[in-house]
Amino acid sequence: MAEALVFHSAYDPPEPWKAALEAELPELEFRLSHEIGDPADVRYALIWKPPAGFLSFFPNLQLVVNLGAGVDALLSRHDIPDIPVTRICDPDMSRMMASFVLFAVLRHARDIPVFERAQRERHWTFLPPRSAEDIRVGILGLGELGTAAAAELVRHGFRVQGWSRTQKDLPGIDCASGMDALPDFLATSEILVVMLPLTDQTRHLLDAERLAMLPKGAKF
Ligand SMILES: NC(=O)c1ccc[n+]([C@@H]2O[C@H](COP(=O)([O-])OP(=O)(O)OC[C@H]3O[C@@H](n4cnc5c(N)ncnc54)[C@H](OP(=O)(O)O)[C@@H]3O)[C@@H](O)[C@H]2O)c1
Repeated sequence: MAEALVFHSAYDPPEPWKAALEAELPELEFRLSHEIGDPADVRYALIWKPPAGFLSFFPNLQLVVNLGAGVDALLSRHDIPDIPVTRICDPDMSRMMASFVLFAVLRHARDIPVFERAQRERHWTFLPPRSAEDIRVGILGLGELGTAAAAELVRHGFRVQGWSRTQKDLPGIDCASGMDALPDFLATSEILVVMLPLTDQTRHLLDAERLAMLPKGAKF
């Protein structure tokens, strides 16, 4: 029986993946999702957002490789078999996300919305700038993205604290973990950044009651 990998993505071109896999694994057949042949040959799925039912079509599937970093949507599907699921961690994506977090935090730390409003209203205003080290930023989620964003904020001198499910030990970051630590964490986060996946456990984690725990004037 042939050993095949099925590729499906509406966004990613298959050619570079085919070339890379054929170079490393010449015996593995690379098949596109509309040219599957015998579904029993398929052991591996390299996919991004396949249609509903796609994954239950292959009786011998052993591994799902998600063509992206977020597996939240994949894991909540009904057709996902009980087999390992891996994802792609791309340093360039982490950098892009970290730079966006830096942009958003600086925007609030330097009161840019106040100046933008003054500019729209055509009056001169001045607020004394606050030092980054006087501003505590809280990051919910210390995975690939949260850790990269936290490190970027530390580099800019912010006081950074992070919260995750399991305890971390990261340079320059006050790490907390677990639900018991969450109220204190929120109460001391002047700017709150959420880098959590959306799962059954994190959905509605931030409700009105928890948002009310943030310090007065906190930004989210
Ligand atoms: N990585 C990327 O390039 C990328 C790009 C775009 C979007 N995203 C999205 O961004 C989100 C985060 O991505 P990631 O790559 O950083 O994920 P990740 O590496 O899996 O990290 C997730 C973090 O959230 C924490 N967490 C998960 N469930 C929790 C819970 N119930 N309570 C407390 N903490 C919890 C984890 O804690 P533990 O470490 O203790 O398990 C971990 O620190 C995902 O939804 C992903 O889809 C990621």
